[in-house]
Amino acid sequence: MGKPHIPLPEIRAAVEACRRCPLSQGRTQTVFGVGNPRARVLFVGEAPGRNEDLQGEPFVGAAGHMLNDLLAIAGLSRDDVYIANVLKCRPPGNRDPRPEEIELCAPFLREQTRTIMPDFIVTLGKFATQFILKTEVGITRLHGTLQHAGRFSVFPIYHPAAALYDGSKREALENDFATLGELLRQAGIVAA
Ligand code: URA
Repeated sequence: MGKPHIPLPEIRAAVEACRRCPLSQGRTQTVFGVGNPRARVLFVGEAPGRNEDLQGEPFVGAAGHMLNDLLAIAGLSRDDVYIANVLKCRPPGNRDPRPEEIELCAPFLREQTRTIMPDFIVTLGKFATQFILKTEVGITRLHGTLQHAGRFSVFPIYHPAAALYDGSKREALENDFATLGELLRQAGIVAA
């Protein structure tokens, strides 16, 4: 028998108490994750930004509004899914996550994933994609293609923030969310 799953409130408490890396010193608060704990689709972003650090919830700023619009294309709402980040604390100035930060924070996302046990993991941007798929292949090649990691179907897409300043990325994101909706309909996760 495998290790028992840790209830989400217990994982959240461990995140809130975490001092494993210096990001814990600069945070206003941790950003654990939000949504349906029995979701069949888990969205994984990169790290909290300024608004997320202030509000304690992932994807509440401009990228979050974009994500909400894109979810609707796939026939999803925020209440249907679970949303979490690779990092639970905001990197200063929203710089890229560092490999050692990802390594130290990763056990939390691993436990969240084991407990939620979704069918699909949608990775938002390069860092989430490379972390979940354990690959160096770039998001430009992988976005919009169905991948697999263990028992999970993985669907990489560009980070929603990219659509805020690049019209071609917005179009790619809209296409990828339409494809995602189709896959979820085929899997019986979204109503036909
Ligand atoms: N970008 C992310 O990757 N995650 C958030 O929560 C907000 C912006």
